[in-house]
Amino acid sequence: MNTNTEGRGSLLTFEGIDGSGKSTQIRLLAQRLREREISFCTTMEPTDAPVGSVIHQILTGRLQADARVIAALFVADRLDHLLNDVNGILHQVKAGTTVIMDRYYFSSYAYQSVDVPMDWLIRANELSSSILRPDVHIFIDVNPELAMERIDRNRFQKELYEEVSRLRQVREKYYESFERLKETERVAIVDGNRGQDEVAQDVWEIVQQYL
Ligand code: ADP
Ligand code: TYD
Repeated sequence: MNTNTEGRGSLLTFEGIDGSGKSTQIRLLAQRLREREISFCTTMEPTDAPVGSVIHQILTGRLQADARVIAALFVADRLDHLLNDVNGILHQVKAGTTVIMDRYYFSSYAYQSVDVPMDWLIRANELSSSILRPDVHIFIDVNPELAMERIDRNRFQKELYEEVSRLRQVREKYYESFERLKETERVAIVDGNRGQDEVAQDVWEIVQQYL
């Protein structure tokens, strides 16, 4: 059941630590939606728009910035992602398209709260959460050591947060933020420590409730 107002598309987000399998699961979900001829689009944060491009340069070490500046950049990138006149997702959702996002504001709460107070992050993201609150946030939960092995196997260059100790902290912060926001946000937790098809089956069972 789509809990949105009549005519609006669903908004589904994927969250998880780096290497948890979000992109893989979004690809598998997209296949199922195509087979069923459901109109949808996929998108990700950080974006490749101007603010997102600055963030990418910071994540890959080409630019340096204070953790508080990084937190504010993610807030700005997210608002542009929602409100941009050309391809903003608010338009898409209002037009009835199902939007699937790889990361949204819970990523700020989990990643940036290692350095910046979570209260500030939640307040700073209030514009986004009040403009577009997802039908469900799907958290792919993976053991940080396993996620790190997957990243090591598949990437030549590591990004800013891709260290196992950091991933452990981020996972804990995800759980802390879920607990803090349990009255307002719907979070579905999926065990991502299994084969990708098993994980995809659980994801599909959740998604069907919100289409
Ligand atoms: P994320 O987008 O969350 O960083 P990816 O989907 O890119 O994660 O997955 C990271 C790596 O792990 C990729 O190489 C992917 O092929 C692999 N992977 C994804 N899901 C699984 C899984 N369930 N089991 C084993 N390897 C996986
Ligand atoms: P992403 O490209 O999704 O990385 P991955 O596919 O490896 O999961 O995200 C890039 C990085 O940006 C990732 O380390 C998480 C981080 N990030 C934040 O720190 N805060 C945020 O608000 C978002 C959206 C991402």
